[in-house]
Amino acid sequence: MATVTPDLSKNLINGKWVEARSRQTMPSTNPATGEVLGVVPKSGPEDITAAVEAAKSAFEPWRKYPAPRRAEILFRAAEMLVKEKENLARLMTQEMGKVLAETRGDVQEAIDMTYFIAGEGRRLHGYTAPSEMPNKAAYCIRVPVGVVGVITPWNFPMAIPSWKIIPALLCGNTVVFKPATYTPLVGIRFAQVLQDAGLPPGVLNIVTGSGSAVGDALVEHPDVAIISFTGSTETGLAISAKCARRGKRVSLEMGGKNAAIVMDDADLDLATDALTWSAFGTTGQRCTACSRIITHQPVRADLTARLVERARRLRLGDGLDPKTEVGPVVSDTQLQRVHEYVEVGKKEGARVLVGGRRTDEGPLGRGSFYAPTIFDNVTPGMRIAKEEIFGPVTDLIEAKSFEEAVRILNNVEYGLSASIFTRDVNKAMRAIDDIFTGIVYINHGTIGAEVHLPFGGTKNTGNGHREGGLQVLDVFSEWKSVYVDYSGKLQRAQIDKD
Ligand code: UN1
Repeated sequence: MATVTPDLSKNLINGKWVEARSRQTMPSTNPATGEVLGVVPKSGPEDITAAVEAAKSAFEPWRKYPAPRRAEILFRAAEMLVKEKENLARLMTQEMGKVLAETRGDVQEAIDMTYFIAGEGRRLHGYTAPSEMPNKAAYCIRVPVGVVGVITPWNFPMAIPSWKIIPALLCGNTVVFKPATYTPLVGIRFAQVLQDAGLPPGVLNIVTGSGSAVGDALVEHPDVAIISFTGSTETGLAISAKCARRGKRVSLEMGGKNAAIVMDDADLDLATDALTWSAFGTTGQRCTACSRIITHQPVRADLTARLVERARRLRLGDGLDPKTEVGPVVSDTQLQRVHEYVEVGKKEGARVLVGGRRTDEGPLGRGSFYAPTIFDNVTPGMRIAKEEIFGPVTDLIEAKSFEEAVRILNNVEYGLSASIFTRDVNKAMRAIDDIFTGIVYINHGTIGAEVHLPFGGTKNTGNGHREGGLQVLDVFSEWKSVYVDYSGKLQRAQIDKD
């Protein structure tokens, strides 16, 4: 059982750990065992009001605090995360289920992001440009936007908040963070590290609670300048509509229906390893998970047999057990959703080759476990080939040619991640050209993006923004163009030409 000190079951508002104003709490439970790990505030709109007020008052001094100094605090936070990595990873495994190797990776991703973005404190470049006039300087700089609302999912409880909170802070914004309802303890621990690293009071605030009470209040608050959201398409589009009515900036990361193409000349050992990991790692609960495997007809039978064999042998269990390869689904509700999709797939005529059911033998009965599932005979028009399932389920779809495979891959409403396995460099390069997704992998699965490259997708995966890379700075800053006229006389741009 994780040790949760009393202060870590509170909201952080204006530098103080406080209970919800309603005094209500909600439990956080371990999906592998059903045990309660701790209780956190079940906050309401009044807690958001207090947090936004704190963030608003903290904004002016934080904006003026030099960016290299802001970065020093973030570097310190990164060092603290390194020291705390194992404890944080263990808490994360207990709170949302994924195996320890993966939760270590999640914390590492937050560490990577924090070091990477803190490095920008001494850059945060704008640029200078020549003016069309003599004796006139022209340049542009980044400035912060104001109070940022951060709403994050449970599948990457520390990495994804770090993609948003760290660049938001570095740019000089203040933040109100609402972590996922399933992973409040990890969210609180992350906020605690940042606070202890030396953030001034009110610069970062965390309010735990439900999306309908807390998330909505954050989205609707007139003093929140930007909402940065990662989660389901349904919620993202609803947030986007609310933000549009208020003219509020919004950055969205939503669904995926990622596919990998396996051509007849592929290294099938590699493809089997990579696709087993991409489909069933994190119990399939990644935006980047591989949920469609498009097999070139000549290798279909061979690849299918290898994947089924691997899926059958995957060891399910508590993520803290080093022998476990696949942890539980995050909750029973989510497991039901996954199973409903499996039923839909069967009705549509797809065939379950392995899995397709809850697994509850022995100790697994205490948690929410679902057998890794592979569907065969899937055609592109089926719902299971179009909609995001977000669980340990993948589809096999046959293609007769490279062109048909790319067409199938592109023909969904999402565009996050994609991959192709081939030894033919010409096909690989054509795939890079023709696949319309935000991320393309060659001879690699669909998961495993690195923090210093832009992360995000085309079409309904998002709304054009990117996280990660330097591109994330565009989400959390405004451009200010500056003209300094030192000619001592009126000079009219566009008019005084000769
Ligand atoms: C997600 O699935 O929501 O690229 C994020 C990856 C990870 C991040 C995934 N670095 O798979």
